[in-house]
Amino acid sequence: METDERYDLDPVLASEWLPAAYAHEIIDQPVQVSILEERVVLFRTDNGIKAFKDLCIHRGAELSLGKVVNNCLVCPYHGWEYNEEGKCVKIPQQPARRVIPPKAKAVVYPCMERYGLIWVKLSQDEIASKLPLPDYEEFDDPSFKTVYADPHIINAAAPRVVENFLDVSHLAFVHEGSLGDSEHAEIPDYKVHWKDNRYVSDVIPVYADPDGTGKWSILNYTFEILRPMLARLKKVNEETNEIFSMLFAVQPQAKRKSKIFALVSRNYDLETPDQYYIDFQQLIIDQDTAVVESQRPEELPLDLQAELHLPPDRVSIAYRRWLSELGVTYGSEVKKQKHMKR
Ligand code: FES
Ligand code: CO
Repeated sequence: METDERYDLDPVLASEWLPAAYAHEIIDQPVQVSILEERVVLFRTDNGIKAFKDLCIHRGAELSLGKVVNNCLVCPYHGWEYNEEGKCVKIPQQPARRVIPPKAKAVVYPCMERYGLIWVKLSQDEIASKLPLPDYEEFDDPSFKTVYADPHIINAAAPRVVENFLDVSHLAFVHEGSLGDSEHAEIPDYKVHWKDNRYVSDVIPVYADPDGTGKWSILNYTFEILRPMLARLKKVNEETNEIFSMLFAVQPQAKRKSKIFALVSRNYDLETPDQYYIDFQQLIIDQDTAVVESQRPEELPLDLQAELHLPPDRVSIAYRRWLSELGVTYGSEVKKQKHMKR
């Protein structure tokens, strides 16, 4: 397997499993996705979904404009055929010669399907870690029902988008009347812990309406920062044992453009149509979008002297600190000296 060795935009994020698409979005046509400004083509074969750099080595056409034939990706321009390993196996203009230049290959990215999502790594350099994708137990738990939120484009830097998901204080304002209530905005003190290769908050009691159905109660929120572009939220109603869980994955497309994927799981109201939860999630994401797109600076400041922090912001502080430790620079604002190196 070969990857693009020249990848240096953000070596840390490039070595992460990043969400590329929902698996159900990839049917019989190749699909182009944009990850860290790289055009990637996804296509389905009998052996699962594959990811290549969306570029034909012959004359640079986008392979995603082509088609899939016999598990091969066929270039739209002159019909070269690339097999699942990215090797060119047919050049229609020279069928008799059979000599295919060894350089006639596509750049293949590591790609896997999990939780109904396609995950791609742009680089095989193990800079960040060799850790597998974190567990999301609700996905396989039969007592839970999981729906996929519609993919959502937001014109904001990915770290700003992840941090907004981790921000407990905004619920009472941005989502007033749906998730929170500004008359109950107080956040009790809590801590954040490093545990099993992730950051986990203490349980934070929040006065909330988990699904916008008018059932207000105290819910215990737990936030987890799983990876730089992957987070999780669990809300538990201790009285009824109702659990709401969300896996939140962000695809950095460009410096100030991101795509959100979210798995929304619940162990209650199982007979309510899934569309209700999809629509409700869209309402929440739209409310967030307006505020997050307004934030300045657009890039998330990793210097903790920038912006102001209060105890309820502890999850965000942990997130900023972790990005800084890992060396993530894409979509974040780092101190000036670091910029100079580039
Ligand atoms: Fe792809 Fe010519 S550009 S076959
Ligand atoms: Co929000």
